[in-house]
Amino acid sequence: MNLTDRVVVVTGGAGGIGSALARRFAAEGAAAIVVADLNADAARAVAEAVGPVAHPVGLDVTDEEQVRALVADTEQRYGRIDLFCANAGVATGGGVDAPDADWDRAWRVNMLSHVYTARAVLPAMLARGGGHLLMTCSAAGVLTAVGDAPYTATKHAAVGFAEWLAITYRDRGIRVSALCPQGVDTPMLSEGLAAGHLGAKVIAASGAVLTPDQVADSVVAGLAEERFLILPHPEVAAYALRRAEDPDGWQAGLRKLVRRLTA
Ligand SMILES: NC(=O)c1ccc[n+]([C@@H]2O[C@H](COP(=O)([O-])OP(=O)(O)OC[C@H]3O[C@@H](n4cnc5c(N)ncnc54)[C@H](O)[C@@H]3O)[C@@H](O)[C@H]2O)c1
Repeated sequence: MNLTDRVVVVTGGAGGIGSALARRFAAEGAAAIVVADLNADAARAVAEAVGPVAHPVGLDVTDEEQVRALVADTEQRYGRIDLFCANAGVATGGGVDAPDADWDRAWRVNMLSHVYTARAVLPAMLARGGGHLLMTCSAAGVLTAVGDAPYTATKHAAVGFAEWLAITYRDRGIRVSALCPQGVDTPMLSEGLAAGHLGAKVIAASGAVLTPDQVADSVVAGLAEERFLILPHPEVAAYALRRAEDPDGWQAGLRKLVRRLTA
């Protein structure tokens, strides 16, 4: 897919990666970009900065009715959705003792929202015989996020769901991509680093911390090649291979890194 004249929706569009995607899609010549976010004021500010091609919407991706309305309103306003970027996500932190409320929030935002999105966008895309769904998962979805069990489990689930969608719908014209960055310089990571969270330190020690604009570059390249797995950090592929070939050795290496960072 190239972005010229495309109608695109970006959820979490007011955040670091989402706003970079919106800016980049505008530069690539998209016909319309719907910037949707829980933070409606921030979505409006991003849309204003992107320009007249952008349209802000306030919504909660964990509310299925709101997701349906977003899709229906966009299709009515612009005639179709070519690319839906399900990018909203949350990192709650915590381990087995994290409160149920945190597990529930992580599950609903990082995973269940993708089901709501697929239910809402697939009928029109299938009827037209084409469409692209980009799900922002995480390197945590193919590896692990030290210090954040709900994030690890829900991002793994999201990658699994993305793969299921890709296999089930590809022959009917639907493309699915799972965007799996490692560290990206957005509030999600910078706040963790500022607070001295172990997970944020592990991410920073595991590879480059990219700018959201660099992630947007990878997304545009990955969409052009219609790739399933979009890895802005190429080292994640090497880590995933090592994890698959030698899970015990890979876990030992990660434990060693954690011991070094906590010494
Ligand atoms: N920053 C990183 O290091 C990193 C690495 C890998 C993956 N990711 C993923 O990238 C995506 C974007 O995160 P970011 O780094 O830009 O963080 P961010 O916190 O800057 O942006 C996340 C955005 O999602 C919005 N959001 C949260 N809950 C929502 C909801 N229920 N409904 C609608 N919008 C909601 C927030 O308001 C925010 O604008 C997330 O899915 C995140 O898990 C981030």
